[in-house]
Amino acid sequence: MGSRETWATRLGFILAAIGSAVGLGNIWRFPFITAESGGAAFLVVYLLLVAFIGLPVMLVEFVIGRESKQNVVDAFPAIGYGNWKAIGVIGSITGFIILSYYSVVGGWVIQYIFGSLTGAYTGSAEAYFGQVSSGLNTAGFDLLFILLVAGVVGFGVRDGLERAAKLLVPSVVGLMLFLAVYAATLPGAAEGYAYYLSPNLATLRSDALAILPAAAGQAFFTLSTGVGVMITYGSYLDEDRSLLRDGFVIMLADTCIAVLAGLIVFPVFFAQGIAPGDGGIGATFVSLAGAFTTLPGGRLVGTVFFVILLLAALTSAFSILEVIVSFIIDTTGSARSYATAGSVAGIFIVGLPTAFDLQYLTVYDAIANNVLLLLGGLLLALFGGWVYATDAITEFSKGLTSPQFIPKLWIWVLRVPVVVVLSYVLYQNIVDVIQTIQTSLL
Ligand code: PHE
Repeated sequence: MGSRETWATRLGFILAAIGSAVGLGNIWRFPFITAESGGAAFLVVYLLLVAFIGLPVMLVEFVIGRESKQNVVDAFPAIGYGNWKAIGVIGSITGFIILSYYSVVGGWVIQYIFGSLTGAYTGSAEAYFGQVSSGLNTAGFDLLFILLVAGVVGFGVRDGLERAAKLLVPSVVGLMLFLAVYAATLPGAAEGYAYYLSPNLATLRSDALAILPAAAGQAFFTLSTGVGVMITYGSYLDEDRSLLRDGFVIMLADTCIAVLAGLIVFPVFFAQGIAPGDGGIGATFVSLAGAFTTLPGGRLVGTVFFVILLLAALTSAFSILEVIVSFIIDTTGSARSYATAGSVAGIFIVGLPTAFDLQYLTVYDAIANNVLLLLGGLLLALFGGWVYATDAITEFSKGLTSPQFIPKLWIWVLRVPVVVVLSYVLYQNIVDVIQTIQTSLL
């Protein structure tokens, strides 16, 4: 992506950004985090955070990207704030760690494609998950996934990404709608909906602060925000586009797909008699495999589903690799091919422990997602709201058709609520990570 081409169509950009946003975060991570964190109350807090914390920070990334027309590392010097380059460095490190375990989960998906084809999980969905999620096979498929991602990097903006994303989004939505309708017919559906969709106001009030840290991590992860991906994608945008409208569409599409995933997974949990909080990190896979086992023609549907999930995971992983590779090219001056090969090797090695022990996966996820990603988000909010505000308003206003107070409102949302909430959750998550490390690794 060396040359500065712009997106062939508005739809092309939106679909590619949605391609980055929609991935394992929506279908694997969102349901199990929601299940672990109390269901409907979590959903409410999460939706609020996506709209009022995640989206404003995503817009900071778009503004920096469009003004600088550069990748995450070169962007800050290009707009005259070279000493905020640290955001790019932290983003690249965060992306590196995320990709190291994201690829492991991507490898699970590849194994589930084969498992669906051969009917391997029909006997016991849980035993199959155990087999898929740790061991040499896990490491092997992890590597395969990383190599696929590196392969996609060769295609360039318009060709590869736009074409993939155009097909991807409608097919994910179509198949998931179908599965959600099937899930609605299962015996446990009503209980599933109750757990997932009807928040109890009293619990919401008492638990909101406890839910906040996990919900914030998930909000940034699912929107691909905090790493610098959206700086890179925004750098390919023209000035006549409303960033607000585009950001809103991306957020809406991403949220709908996550909510839809819950509409499949929760009825299935209850139909299978799994208590939602007990499922753990494999809950989504176990419950989906269980659903495909009972669904007529489930092996075929399962195969198609996991192929689509793989594509969704690849477009997300691709966007992260792009950030890392730009960073390496920028700091070492090496050729794109070497930078790609070097990062792929590094990502694989760093991720290896997570392919052998799920405890490591939990720890990596807690560090990258709940701490580093939110640190990136906080720095972006501080930078956008307090340092770069005047220029940010000018850039944000280009192509904007909405009332004039909107840009100012955006800056004030960043300045106070976003900074306060992110500082709080970051502190909580750091305490939590230390505890996780102590309990699961030491
Ligand atoms: N948003 C992606 C998903 O939900 C993951 C991702 C995180 C992608 C951070 C880019 C940056 O799967």
